[in-house]
Amino acid sequence: MVETTPIRFFEHMPSQGELVDRFDRRLTYLRISVTDRCNMRCDYCRPAADAYKAEPHSQILTFEEIERIARLAAEKGVNKIRITGGEPLVRRDMPKLVEKLAAIPGITDLSMTTNATLLAKYADALVQAGLNRINISLDSLNALRFRKLTGAELAPVLEGIQAAKRAGLAPIKLNTVLMRGINAGEGQSEVAELIDFAVEHGATIRFIELMPMKYGMDWDKHYISIDEVLAEPGVSERIDLTAVAENCNTAASYLPLKNASQKVGFITPMSERFCDGCNRLRLTADGHLRSCLPADSELNLRDLMRGSGSDDDILAMFRRSALMKPKIGTYAFDKDSEQRSMIHIGG
Ligand code: GTP
Ligand code: 5AD
Ligand code: SF4
Repeated sequence: MVETTPIRFFEHMPSQGELVDRFDRRLTYLRISVTDRCNMRCDYCRPAADAYKAEPHSQILTFEEIERIARLAAEKGVNKIRITGGEPLVRRDMPKLVEKLAAIPGITDLSMTTNATLLAKYADALVQAGLNRINISLDSLNALRFRKLTGAELAPVLEGIQAAKRAGLAPIKLNTVLMRGINAGEGQSEVAELIDFAVEHGATIRFIELMPMKYGMDWDKHYISIDEVLAEPGVSERIDLTAVAENCNTAASYLPLKNASQKVGFITPMSERFCDGCNRLRLTADGHLRSCLPADSELNLRDLMRGSGSDDDILAMFRRSALMKPKIGTYAFDKDSEQRSMIHIGG
């Protein structure tokens, strides 16, 4: 499943310059997963409890290893780092890692994606350590529905959002995965309510199309396109659907709201691919460089480092990972695929 064999051709690539892939995309954004553990069990993300085995701690990168990798990546033009998981805040001492990453020259955007359950406890310390901003998963405002989907309580998440505001994290983005029959589609839609919640809290909400991921929920049954959601009751009253969507070379495109200053975002990995503008590489918690979210093209950076790989060796692996990036990522609709689950990849 995981590619570890050196690809000889790539070893002849020049050792200087920025990270650029075969399609001239500059890779300036590194998503770093710090743990494959999570205190939720969202149906779209992780394997059932009996099929789920977290990696032993010894296989997970230490903060020092992560810092070394991030520093080298920054030397090659990476300027944006996002800390992901699993749930990053279940790992101890996260503010210490944030402090290390914030001190790296060239990193101008340091953020985290979290489920916010532990944010009330950590928001202030994260800000003091140098975290710039935060993205929070919020799939439902209905406590029963939330519990059914995630196995966790909604109240601590809402407290976490308040704490992020108080701590001065800005902007706050809310990520909602759209699922037919759960939070979207006829009779179930929470889209209008979630927009109002975001406006009330000064946050930017982004709706994400469900991706077919290994161990995720039944995609055929629950997938709903953004276009269908935009036709739901209450949406056109709130969103200016006639405006030209804004796309700042990120996964999301944004439309203005009619009665608020915020925008609303759409992440459309299924109905409208955004691979052309992709600028991402991913580092998994167990130290593999992953060149594309859905594609299992990984290189084992951890073993290279622990086997006394030099800085140049690490950079060479970064370049190889960049060159393994597909033009367009392909999803494995086959449930028996070997694909790693989202909890391992970190979104
Ligand atoms: P911003 O920097 O604030 O725009 O955040 P982001 O969208 O890069 O990060 P976030 O973790 O909030 O991403 C939200 C979700 O968008 C992810 O969990 C994925 O589901 C999806 N997503 C983000 N990046 C990619 C990508 O490169 N490819 C695909 N297919 N989906 C992505
Ligand atoms: N499809 C779309 N988004 C997903 N996420 C996790 N699994 C999926 C999936 N199957 C997103 C959630 C969460 C982030 C870490 O990953 O929005 O915010
Ligand atoms: Fe980038 Fe792969 Fe996502 Fe496309 S699917 S945007 S190539 S990470």
